Amino acid sequence: MSAEKKKVLLGVTGGIAAYKACEVLRGLQKAGCDVRVMMTEDATRFVGTVTFEALSGHPVATGFYDFAESSIPHIMLSEWADLVLVCPCTANVMAKMAAGLSDDLISSTLLAAAGTVLIAPAMNVRMWENPATQANLQTLMARGVHVVMPTQGRLACGDVGTGKLADVDAIVAQALSELEGSAPTPQVPVEVELPQSFAEDSTASDLLTALRLAAASSGGTIVIEEPPRDLEGWKFLITAGPTHEAIDPVRFIANASTGKMGYTIARRAAERGARVTIVSGPVTLQAPEGVEVVNVTSAAQMYDAATSLFTHDVDCAICTAAVADYTPAAPADHKLKKGIEQIDVIRLVETKDILAALSSMKGIGQIVVGFAAETNDLIAYAQAKLAKKGCDLIVANDVSRADSTFGADTSRISFVDALGVEELDTMPLNLVADAILDRVCDIMEARG
Ligand code: CTP
Repeated sequence: MSAEKKKVLLGVTGGIAAYKACEVLRGLQKAGCDVRVMMTEDATRFVGTVTFEALSGHPVATGFYDFAESSIPHIMLSEWADLVLVCPCTANVMAKMAAGLSDDLISSTLLAAAGTVLIAPAMNVRMWENPATQANLQTLMARGVHVVMPTQGRLACGDVGTGKLADVDAIVAQALSELEGSAPTPQVPVEVELPQSFAEDSTASDLLTALRLAAASSGGTIVIEEPPRDLEGWKFLITAGPTHEAIDPVRFIANASTGKMGYTIARRAAERGARVTIVSGPVTLQAPEGVEVVNVTSAAQMYDAATSLFTHDVDCAICTAAVADYTPAAPADHKLKKGIEQIDVIRLVETKDILAALSSMKGIGQIVVGFAAETNDLIAYAQAKLAKKGCDLIVANDVSRADSTFGADTSRISFVDALGVEELDTMPLNLVADAILDRVCDIMEARG
């Protein structure tokens, strides 16, 4: 950026994170800013004025009466600055700002500042979460003070939680954006109280309505971020759901798959701009918007549909379906009658492996992804499947875990490919879907 000759007034207040203000100062200078420092008395106990004087090349202002350059330092400094950055900003200084107090140099300068004010709070987690601090935060943001939010982590006092000063780089980047006038619109955290009637099975649109109402009552709006269109031009083929293998016209062999994973990947791929076709076994899910669904019932039908749809223009096939490995060799053409016909033995024959077939068909530039749902020896079985089926990537998930089993809204997956194994944390399905799609992009990129 061209932050040349931009003037930043850095207010350092009394907290252990004061030493990080030195790095912030250096970062701003590196970007071409002229930085002056003002400090509270408390802050000088953490870092001496001499340090900031040496770093900034300006005298440091700590009080009204000892600043050689002006007898009204709070006015002079507030007029000098293009941006006032308070870093770290204590709970006390936030409270003073919210109340409009001016009992020391920093609070008076902030009260006199007509330009952009950016604060980087840092404090103990309980002080941060205290309703008084949160109310002050809301007040300041509503008045247009910009905030680099504190992060979570282990705090200097040993507590773990939110209150850690944001990363130095993030603070510098935000300050530079403010100077360029390109800082993002501040986001105001709102607490949403969901109505009691808001049940677990409420839909995403119910939640959105609740959020919209909550935002409207605090005078705001909900901004829904559009997903990136990074898969524009891509074509995906996805198998999903279980298959039903007929024993007779009314009985079949099935499994516990719901199709959620495959449908979620399809929805996210379409939202990210791809053309997507699902070859779907019998499920109760709605077709995601913009996704073509080819409905099939049996493993044989799924095989025929998937292999004929895997044309050269398909960039990636993802086999999430829980395809029956075996099917009755000779399904009856009429409903079998107990006591009359022999139905205690059903002879099964192996079905054709769709994943293996697509892997053998794939040309250069096509990616085939398989799944391994296991209850034990997850990685070993996944590695064996990768080798046996010849696909590019296996997504392994431990279906013995409640947070990763069939029908769950979360999953814990590992990527297993020729390069090794990468375990991911348990995540909601849409994030799992994104992680899989990102991984597919990485594979494609690595191929050039
Ligand atoms: N798969 C397939 N066609 C089949 C069987 C499986 O495409 N006829 C795909 C699944 O969609 C999944 C992967 O292969 O991507 C699962 O591998 P598979 O060996 O079938 O796993 P299991 O059915 O769990 O079998 P195993 O008893 O060997 O673990």
